[in-house]
Amino acid sequence: MNNPFEKVTVVGAGFLGTQIALLSAHSGYKVSIYDTKESAFEDTYNRLTTDFKNKKITPAIPWEKWDDLKKSITFSTDPAVALKDTDFAVEAVFEDLEIKRKVFKMMGENAPAQAIFASNSSSMPISRMEDASGRPEKCINTHFYLPLQGMYMTDLAGGSKTLPEIMEKGDAWIRSLGCVPLRVNKEILGFCFNSVWRAIKKQSLYMWGNGFVDFRDIDRAWRIFSKMPIGPFGFMDTVGLDVVYDIEMVYYNDSKDPKDKPPEALMQKIKNGELGVKTGKGFYTYPNPEFLGPDFLDPKKK
Ligand SMILES: NC(=O)c1ccc[n+]([C@@H]2O[C@H](COP(=O)([O-])OP(=O)(O)OC[C@H]3O[C@@H](n4cnc5c(N)ncnc54)[C@H](O)[C@@H]3O)[C@@H](O)[C@H]2O)c1
Repeated sequence: MNNPFEKVTVVGAGFLGTQIALLSAHSGYKVSIYDTKESAFEDTYNRLTTDFKNKKITPAIPWEKWDDLKKSITFSTDPAVALKDTDFAVEAVFEDLEIKRKVFKMMGENAPAQAIFASNSSSMPISRMEDASGRPEKCINTHFYLPLQGMYMTDLAGGSKTLPEIMEKGDAWIRSLGCVPLRVNKEILGFCFNSVWRAIKKQSLYMWGNGFVDFRDIDRAWRIFSKMPIGPFGFMDTVGLDVVYDIEMVYYNDSKDPKDKPPEALMQKIKNGELGVKTGKGFYTYPNPEFLGPDFLDPKKK
């Protein structure tokens, strides 16, 4: 399959931005990456490789290609450099509407007029950012899950003015990265699958945060039920508890329903610096979390 364009720029060199950049380079795109923090790309790359190796994950990109791909990606803290001649800019900065709107404005000022803009937001429809870009007809949501860890699916949604040909370019880009596009026909927070995952996450947090159960038992149940190697709390540690909190707040700010507010206990963990894999402690302790141990699902071990 031919790639639909040549150059991809990723804005935000965190956990997801770095994965999108590596996957794009692996699929033959010229890739640049921009972050306000000088060490962001290097730090995230090192954290990703360490975490994957600790968890014995076989990544979607073979290990022997990683270093060369990293070298092929141009990192810059100057948006004009990173966005020069780009065809497609995708932002993966913090899950905060005001920050994302500023980034869309910045992309509009620095990228060529024909460039397409995408958001990797986990929850917010593109219609909330599109006008800041100055080119709403070229804006889409492309929400990746954990593309290098085997979750090869991506939500794809348009905004209030997105042109059909821009949706098709987004579809072609997602497919060229080896991901399955999950197309959203009508605007909804959380898109196609994240809204489903969110229902599981919300109830799991509620059960733990209000003292009904130990979080480990929800993870045990989920793993026995689904045959997956990780439960909701282990997965939230992977995502980052600060990121989970921000996403939950998007739903709460939208509905103002107290049942949508993340539990205080989650905020307490964040205040303690327990953000999950990235800080070495979240619900579990890393690099050797209890759920990877041989006893975790053994009924004979108490
Ligand atoms: N963590 C996940 O598993 C996951 C999965 C899917 C989608 N997402 C979404 O992807 C986005 C990023 O999440 P993440 O986990 O990669 O976050 P992260 O905290 O790992 O990285 C965010 C990066 O954005 C940079 N940044 C912040 N403001 C910036 C700005 N104005 N300009 C340039 N760079 C800026 C930060 O320095 C940081 O490097 C969020 O919208 C999140 O909801 C996250």
